[in-house]
Amino acid sequence: MDKLVITGGQRLDGAIQISGAKNAALPILAASLLTAGTLEISNLPTLRDVGTMLRLLERMGTRIERGNERVTLKADAIGSLEAAYDLVKTMRASILVLGPMLARFGEARVSLPGGCAIGQRPVDQHIKGLQAMGATITVEQGYLLARTERAGGRLKGARIVTDMVTVTGTENLMMAATLAEGATTIENAAREPEIVDLAEVLIAMGAHIRGAGTDRIVVEGVENLHGASHAVMPDRIETGTFLCAAAATVSRHGGEVIVQGARPRTLDAVLDKLREAGVALECDVDSIRVRANGHALVGANVRTSEYPAFPTDMQAQFMALDCIAEGTNHVIETIFENRFMHVQELSRLGASIEIEGNTAIVKGVARLSGATVMATDLRASAGLVIAALVAEGETTIDRIYHLDRGYQAMEAKLTALGATIRRVAE
Ligand code: EPU
Repeated sequence: MDKLVITGGQRLDGAIQISGAKNAALPILAASLLTAGTLEISNLPTLRDVGTMLRLLERMGTRIERGNERVTLKADAIGSLEAAYDLVKTMRASILVLGPMLARFGEARVSLPGGCAIGQRPVDQHIKGLQAMGATITVEQGYLLARTERAGGRLKGARIVTDMVTVTGTENLMMAATLAEGATTIENAAREPEIVDLAEVLIAMGAHIRGAGTDRIVVEGVENLHGASHAVMPDRIETGTFLCAAAATVSRHGGEVIVQGARPRTLDAVLDKLREAGVALECDVDSIRVRANGHALVGANVRTSEYPAFPTDMQAQFMALDCIAEGTNHVIETIFENRFMHVQELSRLGASIEIEGNTAIVKGVARLSGATVMATDLRASAGLVIAALVAEGETTIDRIYHLDRGYQAMEAKLTALGATIRRVAE
């Protein structure tokens, strides 16, 4: 397993380019199953999870041509309606093929994802919504077996009120509804920008969708969708992660970092919290600049919640900032019940954090010092990288494959800014 070795204390300076969003790319790739036409996707990030989704689609029979940050998908000869356990267990987002397969072919067999490091993460809302649309879903040998009422028939439009706000749940149901008979309304829908990006692709494919980006999405089903082209939106979590890295190093060692190709308007809550924490930011339409302002970081309290509030996917990275800020701040996690595994690893670097229920109480310390730590999930790894960049001496981050799932060339981007970071293969 690869490790990252980071020598902290380097000044970061210069510009970096943001890649396409993982959490937009995954549902968009799954949407290719909705049509026999050709889907051309550009600004596709080069990530392990994207590779896993492409492998899954290829196994089903999708014809795929890969280029540099682009891919062409043609699902005109699907031979298998199954998402097998070996791939699903490595990536929960595999569940996103369920809605499209069921909608177009009237049948699907998808392995249940099971628990994961950050929490239990059930898929009951995906199932409940599809059942409301007329699907029969049973669980056999660890697989969800889904069928429409009539073999190979269409789903039926329905009014669905989800019990909680779910991102991939909303995406699965929105995709399924595009080919259903009649209208579907999804109430309590997630409002994440990635849902809007997916809706844009579906609309370009011929779907009739209103309200994506609000908590009420209305889809008028059509009989067929066709091919389309789309550029994946910039990754707002990658953007936020680099802003936190820059904020940490600039406050300690000076320098100036520009994050380019970003979409600042998808990051309001994160930008507000960074400003509150004492970070000097200048936003343009598609770039954000972080520079030293002579003031110390003061940190900020954050509470994760659904978009447009502060994202759970930025919690670990922001906590790393609070660890080196003045004063004591509270980080409250409301989305996942077990997303504090980075806390004990940050503590190994010298951070002072106590956990009470879903709140981490973070007391800023004057210095962190390098140690060997273990990445436990994708965003936890990013939080450790940020802490390591300002820790004294060398930090070794083990199990870095988590980082490769969701950050394109993170060490190359940081190296270009002046960080001392190398990958050690084992
Ligand atoms: N939930 C249920 N039942 C369901 C669906 C969700 O109880 O049927 C619960 C979950 O257990 C969780 C909450 O609802 O407590 C929200 O989960 P959600 O379904 O919104 O999460 P997700 O769709 O599985 C996506 C992102 C995650 C991100 C969350 C929250 C993708 C591929 N994944 O997951 O991204 O943390 O939304 O914003 O879009 C990451 O990129 O590191 C990552 C984990």
